[in-house]
Amino acid sequence: MRILFVCLGNICRSPIAEGVMRHYALQRHLHWQIASAGTESYHIGEPPHRYSQNICKAHGIDISSQRARKFVTKDFDQYDKILAMSCDVYDILTRAYPHPALSSKLGLFLNELHPNSNASVPDPWYGEEEGYAAVYDMIEATCLAILDAHEQRRKDEKQA
Ligand code: 4NP
Repeated sequence: MRILFVCLGNICRSPIAEGVMRHYALQRHLHWQIASAGTESYHIGEPPHRYSQNICKAHGIDISSQRARKFVTKDFDQYDKILAMSCDVYDILTRAYPHPALSSKLGLFLNELHPNSNASVPDPWYGEEEGYAAVYDMIEATCLAILDAHEQRRKDEKQA
């Protein structure tokens, strides 16, 4: 499985998703290819926001070596699943990056936890450090739901 998480700046939300998913996938001995990107260019090459790093560190996850990069259309060829962290990012990807695989690969991140809710992970960029804890919790719950669903599918396939 190759998963790409996408937000606007690739310094607050999607880097947390990348680090958390990599951590829990490895814990389950799943060698998935996991990455993140942003739709905007402002922070290319920067490490995750220090509050994102802090909340991950508090949960035993080190994301300090990750670097922001911009989403490219080719990512639709490189990944099996592309998850937008929020509705605005989903809309940008739909409009600005046309690709034949878009409709089959693009999803909204929180729909993996709450199907059809069409909810967004709030952007903590403009807020205080406290906001990052709530964002982390949402991201962790969703990453675990993705992993649980994958393992359930594998079990079902074996039984079939
Ligand atoms: P992110 O948050 O999309 O979760 O990385 C943002 C980071 C920076 C900006 C916007 C959102 N910005 O406008 O610079």
